[in-house]
Amino acid sequence: MADKQAKLAIGAETYDLPIMEGTVGPDVVDIRKLYGTTGMFTYDPGYKSTASCESALTFIDGEEGVLLHRGYPIGQLAEHSSFMEVAYLMLNGELPSQDEYEDFKVTITRHTMLHDQLRQFYQGFRRDGHPMAIMCGVVGALSAFYHDSTDISDPEHRKISSHRLIAKMPTIAAMAYKYSVGQPFMSPMNSLSYTGNFLRMTFGVPAEDYEVIPAVEKAMDRIFILHADHEQNASTSTVRLAGSSGANPFACIAAGIACLWGPAHGGANEAALNMLHEIGTPDRIPHYIERAKDKNDPFRLMGFGHRVYKNYDPRATVMQKTVREVFDALKVKDPVFEVALRLEEMALHDDYFIEKKLFPNVDFYSGIILSAIGFPTTMFTALFALARTVGWVAQWNEMISDPAQVIGRPRQLYTGPTQRDYVPFDKR
Ligand code: SDX
Repeated sequence: MADKQAKLAIGAETYDLPIMEGTVGPDVVDIRKLYGTTGMFTYDPGYKSTASCESALTFIDGEEGVLLHRGYPIGQLAEHSSFMEVAYLMLNGELPSQDEYEDFKVTITRHTMLHDQLRQFYQGFRRDGHPMAIMCGVVGALSAFYHDSTDISDPEHRKISSHRLIAKMPTIAAMAYKYSVGQPFMSPMNSLSYTGNFLRMTFGVPAEDYEVIPAVEKAMDRIFILHADHEQNASTSTVRLAGSSGANPFACIAAGIACLWGPAHGGANEAALNMLHEIGTPDRIPHYIERAKDKNDPFRLMGFGHRVYKNYDPRATVMQKTVREVFDALKVKDPVFEVALRLEEMALHDDYFIEKKLFPNVDFYSGIILSAIGFPTTMFTALFALARTVGWVAQWNEMISDPAQVIGRPRQLYTGPTQRDYVPFDKR
């Protein structure tokens, strides 16, 4: 019996609903028996007030701008950890010992190659196809190549397919880029780090050696950490819902990639940089801020606002610092960064954004860094998907290994016609 109860009065009836408490964050009203006892559903399109599951992976306090992965603050992980260590932490729940960390890196490294027939799969796409279209197609096709790890009831299968997905995403993403620019695919190089290997597969060419720049490798690795997981966001919820039917993990991650592609979600990093380029110079910022405030104008400031953060996105803080590091390392100056800094400053002093608690999110600065490193904007969301695969896979594992897991099947408020009889053509 839950200690705390919520009381729901409907007409003359009063119903007791258990209140469940987490380790931190909002309590939840357990409504699992609501329909059975009241004949009513709750109504929450967009799930703004709905907890879809229990999870021990990531905690966000939107009011305080806090993001924890297995209890560790994102700022500390970005500063002291690595993407591979964060991947281990998310999958296993604890930071690895040195030996565990080394073993994990070797395991992931050994899975970075793709089945060679998948190279032909790329030939079926147009060269100018969006990398996210390629990512959706190729990742979904992986289940046609790795039958030996699709029995989701087998923990070993779940482990192998998790490692395969995390390991192969950089190879798939790099190949999508190579295909778009007409350069030959670069095979993974096991002597490099996860992130260094990705940079070489993307920017290296067979005609010459590729030297990984440590500052760029570190910045890229940090960007992956910042994008690793984020509670029950739209794409993670998509992965969980797909997985709840028993679909294989490759198909579930392909579904997550499709959802992440949207400009309101993972596509915002590409949209944010395109917006900054469209603004072009600081003197044009007021016009765009006015457009963003105009209810009759669909324009929104890309990279601003968040469903959960009603304070500064802690990832944006780290991202802004990383811009400066990458610019110093590459000795680049990009006027778009000045536009971004000025836009942030003006928006954060504008009553509209203050009142609606709209702050820069993870996508506001990431595009500037990725562009400086050499990625085209079309690759930005593919990089987000590469990193978020760690979160998707960890969340999928958490759900599938929960014995209480059931297929997700929301209901609705029906507002269509009541029953009526079919009318033949000659009677219409
Ligand atoms: C990500 O969920 C996650 O965790 C996602 C993510 C992750 O790591 O997985 O953090 C990654 O998706 C970050 C968000 C990237 N998207 C963008 O930057 C696109 C621009 N942002 C907006 O589309 C919007 O802020 C959302 C979609 C992010 C959040 O939308 P909400 O929570 O549904 O907020 P809302 O649409 O209800 O907006 C509240 C008000 C509205 O005004 P009113 O109707 O109340 O008058 O704020 C306004 C909105 O019009 N508003 C904006 C705005 N975002 C919200 N006005 C101008 N510019 C914006 N960016």
